[in-house]
Amino acid sequence: MKINKKSVYHTKNLDHEYYSRQVSTPYESTKKFFSFLNKKIKLKNKNIIDLGCGSGANLIHLKETYQPGICFGFDQNKDLIDLAKQYSKQRKLKNLHFAVKDIQKASQKKLLKPNIDGVISMQTLSVLDNYEKTIIFAKKLKPKFICVNSLFWEGNIDFKISVNFLEKKKRNIKKINHYNIYSIKHYIQFLKKQGYKKNIFMKFKTEKNLKTKDKSLMGSYSIKLNGGSEIKSGPLILDWYFILSYKN
Ligand SMILES: C[S@@+](CC[C@H](N)C(=O)[O-])C[C@H]1O[C@@H](n2cnc3c(N)ncnc32)[C@H](O)[C@@H]1O
Repeated sequence: MKINKKSVYHTKNLDHEYYSRQVSTPYESTKKFFSFLNKKIKLKNKNIIDLGCGSGANLIHLKETYQPGICFGFDQNKDLIDLAKQYSKQRKLKNLHFAVKDIQKASQKKLLKPNIDGVISMQTLSVLDNYEKTIIFAKKLKPKFICVNSLFWEGNIDFKISVNFLEKKKRNIKKINHYNIYSIKHYIQFLKKQGYKKNIFMKFKTEKNLKTKDKSLMGSYSIKLNGGSEIKSGPLILDWYFILSYKN
């Protein structure tokens, strides 16, 4: 897939701060994601692939916290892959590799020699136009489990949300991002069809009071809703879920 020039994931539009910030300070959602996964499947010595790995922050946190086996990160953006390689070299991390790959490409040959225990993907399915191709990509790596963090909804509805950043004076689109929200039930049905019969999920709850500089822009912040705390970004309430799908 050739990435759209207006996409926020195109090299010329990258928010470098977003990608570097989380390498030095892993996000709360990253920590909770791995803690959720590790409770069910011990990550020690497991070979893991991260799809849409960005600058590698999540795998770096995994390596430094859980002593997994060989880990690979794939992303379509070469700049981010170069950054990931640079960060992991600086931290002298072993058995951590990164490569430029399109995780929506249908025809993948057998990619890797070592047996893959698990595929993870964090905050990436929602920016893709659909998750199916990426789950098929993951399945071809023959993992025992697939664990994702994405925006989901508990009803039978998928939401296709394109966020178009406009120029100040004209209604021209400067940049585009996607915040697609998928039906959990349908996602799980799809995973079951792929052989991942067992599925468990958990909604991510922040314990922090998230703040953003300008609420008229996109950027996560906490709001009180129905007696609890939720995450809002622009006009959207962000329901981040962790879903673990496994074979037995
Ligand atoms: C919101 S970022 C998340 C990055 C990282 N997983 C994290 O948690 O910070 C989404 C990532 O998906 C990558 N991406 C988008 N489309 C892709 C594709 N078709 N193939 C590979 N990577 C893709 C982008 O380059 C970007 O790094």
